[in-house]
Amino acid sequence: MATKKNARSGFYFFHRPQLDNPSTKHAPRGAPIPVLAGSASIGVEMAIHPDDEMYQFAFQRLGSVSLARRQYARQGLRIATTFGRIAEWCFPGAHAPTVLDFASGHGRATRFLAAHLGAERVWASDIKDDAVSFCQSTIGVGGFTSTARPEDLEVVPRFDLIVVSSLFSHLPRHLFHGWLARLAALLEPGGVLAFSVHGSEMVDPSLMPADGYLFVAESESRVLNADLYGTAYVTTGFVTGAVQAAFGSAIHMRCLPKGLCGAQDLYVVSRDPARRVEALPLLAEPVGYVDVCVLTPGGHLHVTGWAGTHDPGDQLQWVTLELDGVRIASSSAQLHRPDVSAVLGNPALERSGFDVRIGIHPPFTGDRLLEAKARTLRGAEDVLLVD
Ligand SMILES: C[S@@+](CC[C@H](N)C(=O)[O-])C[C@H]1O[C@@H](n2cnc3c(N)ncnc32)[C@H](O)[C@@H]1O
Repeated sequence: MATKKNARSGFYFFHRPQLDNPSTKHAPRGAPIPVLAGSASIGVEMAIHPDDEMYQFAFQRLGSVSLARRQYARQGLRIATTFGRIAEWCFPGAHAPTVLDFASGHGRATRFLAAHLGAERVWASDIKDDAVSFCQSTIGVGGFTSTARPEDLEVVPRFDLIVVSSLFSHLPRHLFHGWLARLAALLEPGGVLAFSVHGSEMVDPSLMPADGYLFVAESESRVLNADLYGTAYVTTGFVTGAVQAAFGSAIHMRCLPKGLCGAQDLYVVSRDPARRVEALPLLAEPVGYVDVCVLTPGGHLHVTGWAGTHDPGDQLQWVTLELDGVRIASSSAQLHRPDVSAVLGNPALERSGFDVRIGIHPPFTGDRLLEAKARTLRGAEDVLLVD
C-alpha cells in the first residue's frame, strides 16, 4: 500500500502508515491531531537529520519530500501531544516534570516536547550517538547515548516522566524485560513511565504463543540488528506481567488501546497513586480509510470509504475533505459496512461508510493535495488512510 498519486483523480492523498483496512485484510488505524498549546507560535525546530530513519521511512512510503516532512512533523506532534497530556495530568500545578524521551531517534517528537515543556526539562536518549548529538545541538535538550544491553547503561539522572515511543514494539523478549526494569530504576520516586507496544490483535491469533509475546526479526531499520531490534507483538496479560516483574506488584497502570497515533497500545505506569494514571483523560483516535477517489472528466470528485471510533463512549461526528487545506465537503459516515465491523470485530463500525460526490469548479490542472479527515464528538481527529 502506498500513498501515492491516484492515477485517475490526479490528487495526492496525504495519509499515515496503514492500519487495519478490512478491504485489504491489513491492519490499519487513525488518530486525532490535537495541537500542543501554543506550538504553532512557539517556533518548533524542524531541521531533519539526513540519517533520521523515521523521516526516511515516511519518504519511502510517500515518495515526496514535502509530504514526508509533513507526515514526519504530524506524527511527531501527535506523539508529543499525547505525552504532553500525560505530563500535565500526572504532574499538575507549578512543578513541571523532567522528561526523558528514551529511544528518541533524531527527535521527531522530542522537538515538540521541548517546545511544549521547555528544552531545559527534556532529555533525549538513543542507541544512535548521532541522534542524541543532533537532539542536543539542534533542539537544545539534554542527552546521553544508550546501550544495547540495559545493564550496561551507567548511572544517569533520574526523571519524573520517561516516555518511550515505538521501542518496546521492537524488542526481543529479554530486552523487553531488561529495559522495563532499567527504566523503572531511572524514575524519580513518584515517577511515571509511558511506553507503546504493538497489540496482539495486529497478528493472526493462531501465530500468537500462549504467553502473549511474539517476535519477528524484521524492522524498518537499515542499521540496527534485526535480532535485537525486530518487531514484537504482545498481549495486555504479557505486558502486565512484565511491568509487575519490573516495578513490583504495587503499581498503578493504564492501558490505552491504540493510544499512540492510533497505531500502538499505550501503557502508563506509576508506583504512586497520586499520579492518577488510571483516570488519564486521553481520547481514542478515529479510524478509517478512503477506498475510492475518482475525478470524473466532468469535474466531479467522488470519494468513498469508512470511518469510525473504537471508543464505546464516543461517536463519529463527520468526515471532511480538504483540498490544499481548504474544506470542500463534509459528510456523516453512516452507510452500511458489514465488512468493516466483521474484520475489525466491532459492531459499532457496521454503519461507518461514507460516499461523497462534489463538483470541482473551475477544473484544475496540476497536482493537488486532498486530505480526508474524521472527527469524533469528543473532539478526536485524524487523517484517513488510503490504500
Ligand atoms: C521506531 S524508532 C522510534 C523513534 C522515536 N521514539 C519516534 O517515535 O520518532 C525506535 C528507536 O529506538 C532506538 N533504539 C533501539 N535500541 C535502543 C536502545 N537499546 N536504547 C535506546 N534506543 C534504542 C532506535 O535507534 C530508534 O531510534
